[in-house]
Amino acid sequence: MKIQINIFFCLLFLNSFSQKYRDLAITPPMGWNTWNTFETSIDEKLIKETADIMVSSGMKDAGYTYIVLDDGWMTMERDKNGDLVPDPKKFPSGMKALIDYVHSKGLKFGLYNCAGIKTCAGYPGTRGYEYQDARFYAGLEIDFLKYDWCNTEGITAKEAYTTMSDALKKAGRPIVFSLCEWGDNQPWNWAEPVGNLWRISGDIYPCYDCEFKHDTWSSWGFFKIAEMHKNIRQFSGPDHWNDFDMMEVGNGMTFEEDKSHFALWCMLASPLIAGNDFRNMSKETLSILTNKELLSINQDTLGIQGFKYREEEELSIWFKPLQNGNWAVSFFNKSNKEIKIDFDWKKHHVIDDINNLETSFNTIKYDIRDVWQHKDLKSTKESFKAVLASHDVITLILKRK
Ligand code: GLA
Repeated sequence: MKIQINIFFCLLFLNSFSQKYRDLAITPPMGWNTWNTFETSIDEKLIKETADIMVSSGMKDAGYTYIVLDDGWMTMERDKNGDLVPDPKKFPSGMKALIDYVHSKGLKFGLYNCAGIKTCAGYPGTRGYEYQDARFYAGLEIDFLKYDWCNTEGITAKEAYTTMSDALKKAGRPIVFSLCEWGDNQPWNWAEPVGNLWRISGDIYPCYDCEFKHDTWSSWGFFKIAEMHKNIRQFSGPDHWNDFDMMEVGNGMTFEEDKSHFALWCMLASPLIAGNDFRNMSKETLSILTNKELLSINQDTLGIQGFKYREEEELSIWFKPLQNGNWAVSFFNKSNKEIKIDFDWKKHHVIDDINNLETSFNTIKYDIRDVWQHKDLKSTKESFKAVLASHDVITLILKRK
C-alpha cells in the first residue's frame, strides 16, 4: 500500500513537472526583438522606452508580450566563475533591474545566446556551459530564450538544442525556447519536444522577394522565406511553430509591402516578433501591427499554418482554415503592375489535405469580411471583384453562415 501511494505521488509530481513546461506558446508568440533595427547597439534606455511604448501604443493590448534582447547584451568574456556578464556599460542598472522593469509593465522578457562557442557577433556562446547558463537565466527570471547556431563546428543540432532544452527544464523556470538554426538541420522533423518555435530560414531582409547577398550567406525578402520550404506546414501547431523570422514591418518597405508581409506572417501562423524602432513608429506601421482582425487569423486557436492555394499570373492566393468552419484568404499581387481580381468562388474547391478540411463554395455559402478595410462585403454567392495595386494584399475572413 505504502509503495503504491509513493508511486502515485511520484507520477503526480512527474506529470505536474512536465506540464509546467508545456503550453508556453499555445498560439504563435508575439513580441519585439532588438536585432533587425539595432543589431548590437542596445542599452537599457532603448529597452525601457520600447517597453513603455509597447504598453502606451496599444501593442501590448493587441497581444505583443515579449521584449527580447538579441545578440550583444553581454561582455566579451565570462566572469571568473564562468558566468555570463551583462554589459555594464549598456545596462548600468543591471540586467535584473531591467527585467523587473519589463515585468512590472505586465510584459515578458527574453535573452539570446548561441549553441556554439561564440555567438554570431562574437560574444561568449553557451557550448559547454548549458546548465550553468540555464541557471543564470532562471535566476534572472527570463521568459524566452533565442538560441542561435553560429560557431558550432563538430556538434549536431538535435543534440545541442536538446541539451539546452533539458538544461532549461532542470533550472526550473518555464522559458519559451526559440531555436534559431535557420532550418539547416530540418528542426521541424525533431524539435517539437525540444522547443516552442524554430526558424526555418536564414535571416530576413526588408524587401518583397529579393535575395541580399553577404560574403558567405544571403538574407531574404519575406516572400522568399514564405516559399522556401514546400512541405513543412504539417509540423507547425500549438506550442511548436515554424518561425518565419522577426518582422521587418516599419523598416523601410512601402506601406503595401508591409501589409503583405504582415498578412503573410498571419496566414502562416508565424510567431509575430516586431523588429522596428517603436520610438519613431508611424501611424501606418502601428495600424498594421495592431490590426486585430489580422491578428485573429494569426492567433486562431486551431493553429493551422495556411498554404498557397494557387498562383495565377502573379496573383498569389493563400488560404488558412480557422475555427468554427471559417477560412482566411489573402490575395497577393507579386507583380509590378495593378491586377484586376475577378474571383468566382463557385468555381473553387479548397482542400487542406493535411488537416482533412475542405470547402466547396458551390455548396457552402460564407459571409465575407475585409479585414484591412474593416468592412463586411457581399457573400461568396457572388464573384469577388477588386483592383489590387503592385505588392499590395487583400485579406478576407470567410464566415460560415
Ligand atoms: C543570426 C540570427 C539573427 C540574429 C543574429 C545575431 O544571424 O539568425 O536572427 O540573432 O545571428 O548575431
